[in-house]
Amino acid sequence: TGLITLDPGFVNTGSCKSDITFMNGEKGILRYRGIPIEELAEHSSFRETAFLLIRGILPTQKQINRFSVLLNDHSLVHEDMRDFYGNFPRASHPMGILSSMVSALRSFYPYLEDVEEEIDITVTRLLSKVRTMAAMSYKMSRGHRVVYPRPDLSYCANFLNMMFDSPVKPYEIDEEIVRALDVFWILHADHEQNCSTSAVRIVGSAMVNLYSTISAGIAALWGPLHGGANQAVIGMLSEILKEGTTVKQIVERAKDKNNPFRMFGFGHRVYKTYDPRAKIMKKMCDIVLSRLKLSDPLLDIAKELEEVALKDDYFIEHNLYPNVDFYSGIVLRAIGIPTKMFTVMFAIGRLPGWIAQWKESIDDPSSKISRPRQIYIGPRQTKYVPIEERE
Ligand code: CMC
Repeated sequence: TGLITLDPGFVNTGSCKSDITFMNGEKGILRYRGIPIEELAEHSSFRETAFLLIRGILPTQKQINRFSVLLNDHSLVHEDMRDFYGNFPRASHPMGILSSMVSALRSFYPYLEDVEEEIDITVTRLLSKVRTMAAMSYKMSRGHRVVYPRPDLSYCANFLNMMFDSPVKPYEIDEEIVRALDVFWILHADHEQNCSTSAVRIVGSAMVNLYSTISAGIAALWGPLHGGANQAVIGMLSEILKEGTTVKQIVERAKDKNNPFRMFGFGHRVYKTYDPRAKIMKKMCDIVLSRLKLSDPLLDIAKELEEVALKDDYFIEHNLYPNVDFYSGIVLRAIGIPTKMFTVMFAIGRLPGWIAQWKESIDDPSSKISRPRQIYIGPRQTKYVPIEERE
């Protein structure tokens, strides 16, 4: 074997060539297929961005119409899958449920995915059903009647309807709220080789089916250092609100090297400046709250925390700025998404990115099964000791 270079956390390792997403961490730039995230957030829809990521180009009118028909055709979830939902303990985390259910899809749709049209159907099925399954798990966890998808509604409006349609709706779903969700999902749609996407590429490299591959991505995203941070941010802000911890105390706790606590929603492996997604999300908080005529004390706390942290020497020296998760929870809370489901919202948004990255890797003739090496630091050869002689 040749010389092995250790790179814990793959900080300096490039794992693939990709033409999907461009990031510049110093300047805070993010582009999907060359298009700046700011332009997509302003003009695109999540459905269109998903097409862009997966197919590599913006769709024509005809293509987007066809895509919408396919999304509608595949939006229902097999009725037998409902029994699974019914049998999870009520307190189960929706991320665990989602990754199990996505994995289970393989048993319900056991087609081969090596034919181009089959891949297209599998991809559309996933995009559409994951949204239905997420809303279904919410409804069932509350003991409410499941709401079916409606072909007359857009991707995002459909999701909100499946979540909140009931005789006691929290609010009337309108264009502005649908737009907020569109933007939230566009901002999450891809982020090059992050932990969950790398999981998708690694698992996919073994040529396992797409459902199991995506299920692995969902599992990775669940972690509080990754997609779970949006939920952790709300916990941190609520602590300030409810337990009287001061903003300064949180900043000090984050700096304390004897305390494993981290300031959630701050810092990023790639961005060493303000996360461009966080800028858009921060503005979105004000738009959504004013649209719904709500005020959220957590937003004021978040803004104050940001101000104090950005002036602090530790945060300045470590290049720690707000990331996408810092403000996203406030938007989600305002539109009625329970905190426990925040990471599920991230997962639905990231799905087009995972699929695009998986597709790129399996289409690449030079790709190989992922198989890193290690530097062994265990004992040299030792003898097997029979149990009666062991101490
Ligand atoms: N609070 C306090 N200190 C921090 C933080 C933070 N949020 N983030 C990084 N640091 C410090 C860290 O202690 C280390 O200090 P030192 O060099 O003195 O030991 C230094 O900054 C570098 O940290 P690192 O852990 O080596 O950096 P990383 O690139 O491995 O970690 C990160 C990136 C996002 C995991 C980390 O910044 C973090 O834990 N942030 C909080 C969790 C979070 O918000 N995650 C969401 C990320 S964005 C969305 C997503 O990708 O899912």
